[in-house]
Amino acid sequence: MEEARRPEEELDKKDTSEHIEVSTDELDQEDIQHVNNPIVGIKPIEKEFLGAVKEVRQENNKFIFTDGSASVEIRVVSDEIIRVRLAPHSVFLEEFSYAVPSLDQKVAVFNFTEDETHYAVSTNTVSCLINKSNFHISFRDNDSKIINEDYLAMHWEENDQFGGYYVYCTKKCYPEEAYFGLGDKPTDLNLRGKRLQNWNSDTYSFAKHQDPLYRSIPFFISLNENIAHGIFLDNTFKTHFDFAQEDNNKLSFWADGGELQYYYIHGPNMMDVVKRYNSLTGTHKLPPIWALGYHQCRWSYYPESKVKDLADNFRKRKIPCDALYLDIDYMDGYRCFTWNKKYFPNPKKMIKELSDDGFKTVVIIDPGIKVDDNYWVFKEGKENKYFCRRSDDYFMEGHVWPGRCQFPDFTNPEVRTWWGGLFKELVEVGVAGVWNDMNEPAVFGKGTFPDDVRHNYDGFRGSHRKAHNVYGMQMVRATYDGLKKIQKNKRPFTITRAGYAGVQRYSSCWTGDNVASWEHLKIGSLQMQRLSMSGLPFAGTDIGGFSGEPTGELFTRWIQLGVFSPFMRAHSAGDTAEREPWSFGQELEDINRKFIELRYKLLPYIYSTFWEHHRYGFPILRPVVMLEQDNPTNRYREDEFTFGDKILVCPVLEEGATSRKVYLPGGGNWFNYWTHEVLEGGTEHVIDAPLDSMPIFVKAGSVIPEYPVMQYTSEFEVEEMMFQIFYSDQEVNSFYFEDHGDTFAYEQDIYMEKKFVVNGDKKSLTITQSIEGLFTPRYETYELKINGLPFKPSKVLIDGKTYAGDLIFDEVKSLVIKTPKHFKQIQVVK
Ligand code: GLC
Repeated sequence: MEEARRPEEELDKKDTSEHIEVSTDELDQEDIQHVNNPIVGIKPIEKEFLGAVKEVRQENNKFIFTDGSASVEIRVVSDEIIRVRLAPHSVFLEEFSYAVPSLDQKVAVFNFTEDETHYAVSTNTVSCLINKSNFHISFRDNDSKIINEDYLAMHWEENDQFGGYYVYCTKKCYPEEAYFGLGDKPTDLNLRGKRLQNWNSDTYSFAKHQDPLYRSIPFFISLNENIAHGIFLDNTFKTHFDFAQEDNNKLSFWADGGELQYYYIHGPNMMDVVKRYNSLTGTHKLPPIWALGYHQCRWSYYPESKVKDLADNFRKRKIPCDALYLDIDYMDGYRCFTWNKKYFPNPKKMIKELSDDGFKTVVIIDPGIKVDDNYWVFKEGKENKYFCRRSDDYFMEGHVWPGRCQFPDFTNPEVRTWWGGLFKELVEVGVAGVWNDMNEPAVFGKGTFPDDVRHNYDGFRGSHRKAHNVYGMQMVRATYDGLKKIQKNKRPFTITRAGYAGVQRYSSCWTGDNVASWEHLKIGSLQMQRLSMSGLPFAGTDIGGFSGEPTGELFTRWIQLGVFSPFMRAHSAGDTAEREPWSFGQELEDINRKFIELRYKLLPYIYSTFWEHHRYGFPILRPVVMLEQDNPTNRYREDEFTFGDKILVCPVLEEGATSRKVYLPGGGNWFNYWTHEVLEGGTEHVIDAPLDSMPIFVKAGSVIPEYPVMQYTSEFEVEEMMFQIFYSDQEVNSFYFEDHGDTFAYEQDIYMEKKFVVNGDKKSLTITQSIEGLFTPRYETYELKINGLPFKPSKVLIDGKTYAGDLIFDEVKSLVIKTPKHFKQIQVVK
């Protein structure tokens, strides 16, 4: 099967980042204002720069400055977000963004001032300064500290071939400044010293540092002198970022077309920057809770007997699993929305049987539609002119799995509605989720579409240069919206390979065709952390590696990391040995089971973390630098992260390792999850990590909800909710979320959010609980397991009344009590 795939497709596995000479930066400012400069480089480039500001006018929350020829618009979006746009000949493009659904509701108080040298547009927290003589733009906080500053005035270069401009922004880079974000780049967490670009690419077996990969998220976070800010370049053309690679004093970003339009996002905490970016581009909606279970995938499980056998094995071996995937071979000749009746004679019956056994079925869908006049999807697309066309009106044709294909223009709203409707039959057959693949878009032999392909771009028209990076996002948007309509109040589950900023509003994602190697285990951990900081928190890697063969040890370490991957799915290419949790012998099967069970125990915590993301915009995975940005070493710590704000995960990423060094962030103690040993934060420790273990720590003061192990998420109703409470001598808040798990009722406040506050001293521990929302769980009682008490308890008071049960205090200093679920306060007294 593997031979059938694009042999010539395999991209050069070396660092492919392009290096374009844009060194106007070498020139003196004076020389380059509005003059055409022959630049040393591959070809002479003529660039124009903004000149001195001549005039300014205000339109509500926008200020438009001009040098007499070009204009810049500064728009106050919120107290902490300011948008900058450049119009080289003073004609701004129409307001439209796939990333930012609306700017309207973000209100702010602002004022406009002017002195001899600068104009200033200020909010309560930040000022945007415009230098009158050179049009340099800078941002300053309330302490008058310059946070971000132009090194050169914004500049541009006409594009003779396509029209429009290449647009450039060059800012100062400070000696200690570090950079993070930018989506799925498989490179070091700190991006300083790298030049990277965004152009969605099908990158089978990608290598470390390879660029670009599947997604375009032109958003980065800067951290300098403990102050963070973010820049989001909302431009769907190919975009480029130079993080002081070319010149240690400069940061540049530029785009091959469109508008130079960027958002300055104020910090000073990295967490605030990410939350504010999420407030612009949107958060992931709550996934159905089953989507947070363990998923098993392979290219491909067929025929039906194989799928059934797989399901039976999970249940027989008591390894929890919620979803099984059907890759391209379920289709008839790879025609989307059809079934191969030889392999799957009665899909409805099969899916029903799987469902009765607790499995959801997820199927793959690709954008390439086979050119075949006897195939209804092709016919409908052709009749309605839904397929992409070249500039001279020829169809855009290319080879993908089914052979010769045409491709729907998902940037056309009408096409999206049509596509969304195509899922009706699959949903009726019982399919529970849709996996969107090859949507960079990928074309065998050619990579992707030629530049001249035309797109509707939601009525704003554009060539493929403009629409390429959003094609996949619009495909999965069509899928998501279609499923939502068909499934009514049920939450859709979608996965996508390609995406642009904001794609999280429609889908989860996986990191694409990785490799079964230890290096890729590390890369995967990095990519998930980076995606989480870049607004795409519901991400996972192909556990075990897509191509190549993992050893049993590597697979088990990957399962362990997978427990803390927001999306947990094992997947492998068709030419590899079969790879299920039991494929590597009994000993490893037992360890894999133990860790998949851990995922199911922690599900209520994991689900609460997704809620925290959805409602408050927090990332799900948080690299250590986000927790403690003032510690310079943390800029380079990339092999551990927290899941939510309570659990620190230190995956074992080295072959043969039986221990590893961990750094526990400061600000309190940490409990070893397995032994309950209390360790001091703010320092490094060496922790045992034999193959059946992985260092995991819980922050002192946390309340961690746990479910009993289930074989799939809704196997049975929880009769008593269990919370693990970890003693702290400082006040710590935790929260817990619960709802129906599969509907949109939470949008009508049908959910329950509980806040716990834990606070202790040498003689007592107090736990208070407050509740918000309208959802009432069925269970009536809690089991509270209080860990690490530094004293032997003599009494427990529940809302002032003495607890009648036994106080059994075991050797690991844990106390178990049962309480009614509605208590307000519990006091454990020495
Ligand atoms: C692509 C996907 C991979 C899938 C394969 C066949 O390579 O990235 O996950 O299994 O196509 O559909």
